[in-house]
Amino acid sequence: MPRPKRAPFALLTAIILIVTTILLACDSEPRKSDAELGLTPQQAQGRRVYDARCAECHYAYSTHDLRAPSLHGLFKKPFMKNGIPANDDRVTDIILLGRAKMPAFQQKLTQQQLDDLMVYLHTL
Ligand code: HEC
Repeated sequence: MPRPKRAPFALLTAIILIVTTILLACDSEPRKSDAELGLTPQQAQGRRVYDARCAECHYAYSTHDLRAPSLHGLFKKPFMKNGIPANDDRVTDIILLGRAKMPAFQQKLTQQQLDDLMVYLHTL
């Protein structure tokens, strides 16, 4: 008995769906709690700032780029992706002054929020 012609197509569709789901899952790991990440209260405050101000463009825990380079391991390497030294002064400059396609946060963050954010960025 010949099988219905559609079967291979349905199988292919199923395979594509499964593969796509797996690939997407790599970027959307379940969000870890502050406790699971072992964050101190100040680091957790910084994470709130990050979520509100940075997360729309930068991934924190995936090395993939979103609308901008991932900030995972930002301070673990000597240089940022743009070639600028990855230290507190230079990173603070970028946050306060912005870059070509990144908004400046000088008027948008209090000194306390900036301090908390920097402490959090060091955990990435
Ligand atoms: C609207 C999108 C957007 C937002 C929001 C944003 N950025 Fe960016 N950011 C960018 C883009 C685009 C670049 C790369 C631009 C460039 O280097 O000229 C960048 C670059 C950076 C870099 C340099 C990264 C590297 O490795 O070269 C750092 C550090 C950074 N952003 C931190 C932050 C922090 C911290 C926040 C939150 C306070 C933030 N950004 C919010 C778009 C954004």
